[in-house]
Amino acid sequence: MATNRTFTMIKPDAVANGHIGAILNDIIAGGFKIVAMKYIKLSTEAASQFYAVHKERPFFNDLVSFMTSGPIVAAILEKENAVEDFRKLIGATNPAEAAEGTIRNKYAKSIDANAIHGSDSDENAEIEGNFFFSQFERF
Ligand code: RTP
Ligand code: MG
Repeated sequence: MATNRTFTMIKPDAVANGHIGAILNDIIAGGFKIVAMKYIKLSTEAASQFYAVHKERPFFNDLVSFMTSGPIVAAILEKENAVEDFRKLIGATNPAEAAEGTIRNKYAKSIDANAIHGSDSDENAEIEGNFFFSQFERF
């Protein structure tokens, strides 16, 4: 079933702006089932580890400080073709380029504060889900 799952975070900007409910509605309306979910605030260590792949990039420090600036909602989602379909539902990294009706188009303000994360491959979906959830916390 791993290939039918993806991992998401509703990022601190979207939580702070009151969009948790609307975004969860869009996710469910998009055909995704919630397999696991939690509301937490990332430590600097956890955010750095999660985005370790970007640690040499110029935006890394800003990314980590943004992701630790407030609570997030982390979730594992299930749907056929989950990774690709979820990336379509959230839209491009830069909300200015995100297609009409996508989550980033509707709720994100900038490339840094872009409302939501979605895994970029089946392999990373598995790694990211395991990073946040134990085997006892998912259905
Ligand atoms: P995410 O991992 O958060 O779902 O975003 P993504 O796949 O669409 O983009 P990714 O390349 O993984 O980058 C992670 C986050 O880093 C910030 N970023 N800034 N200034 C820039 O050029 C730049 N590029 C990426 C974004 O906030 C992005 O979500
Ligand atoms: Mg990414």
